Amino acid sequence: MSRLETQLEGVDSGFARVLREVPLLDNPPLAPDWLRCEMLERYQVLQQAPVVHGSTVLEVGSGGHGIATVPLAFLTGETGRVVALERERWGMFREILTQAGYRDRIRPVTGDARQLPLTPTSVDLALCVHGIRSLRSEPIMVEVFREMLRVAPKIFLAESLPVAVNDAQRAHLEMYDLRQEFFEATTGERDDLHYLAQERLGQLVAEAGGVVLTSKVVEVDLPHALAYFPRDLLKSVKDPKRREELLARWDRAEQLLRLHGTDHPPVGVIVAARSL
Ligand SMILES: C[S@@+](CC[C@H](N)C(=O)[O-])C[C@H]1O[C@@H](n2cnc3c(N)ncnc32)[C@H](O)[C@@H]1O
Repeated sequence: MSRLETQLEGVDSGFARVLREVPLLDNPPLAPDWLRCEMLERYQVLQQAPVVHGSTVLEVGSGGHGIATVPLAFLTGETGRVVALERERWGMFREILTQAGYRDRIRPVTGDARQLPLTPTSVDLALCVHGIRSLRSEPIMVEVFREMLRVAPKIFLAESLPVAVNDAQRAHLEMYDLRQEFFEATTGERDDLHYLAQERLGQLVAEAGGVVLTSKVVEVDLPHALAYFPRDLLKSVKDPKRREELLARWDRAEQLLRLHGTDHPPVGVIVAARSL
């Protein structure tokens, strides 16, 4: 039995049924069930979020596959609504949401989370799951958290931590940590930032005017394929010394991936409210 199928045995049967509607994808070297595995990870992380059945939830940075959007639509239920905010990468979002049967529960909105197109306290909860890494800098994170606290009485943040307790997590971090340098060296812009320490995330929430209600670390026992990127992309790095250095690091990371696989590092989760 696959690792996914084993884990699905312990999951709500309704969500397991939804996951089996999510398409298998042909993106080698990723396993065909990578999207289902990632959605199960989001479902497990969202168990820590104060998501109420029938409520309206804003999701910041939903991304091109709706990885957290699908479990969120399941958890808010038939009478709930998800406002999915994304700056630019819609990709397969509509197709996946339709296949999961959730097209009607979700309102996709294109926009910048630094200026949310929503009135104060207009949603029950605002959350960002595995999207903090894409916010490009700490000052932007603070701006976004402040906006989330404006539109919702509570926010929920979840992001991988720069911590490895086994070899598969170490392999993930080795490959993932190349991404920030790769983007910087090729586009001059930052993306896929190094994961933040849990304590730092809490400090940024406080800077944004929030008070942390709960702060936890969640261990998920699932593969995390998404750090991988093709070696050839590094060949576009202009500075030869930098290119050689990054290629050597990529080779080492890929060897670790082949030896140990690649797992989700522990995930830091925070629930916060506006401070008075
Ligand atoms: C890592 S991805 C997808 C995260 C997704 N929630 C998941 O569970 O995997 C984060 C997304 O945030 C989006 N994003 C980054 N900055 C943003 C901003 N300022 N406003 C809205 N979306 C943003 C990116 O375009 C990207 O698609």
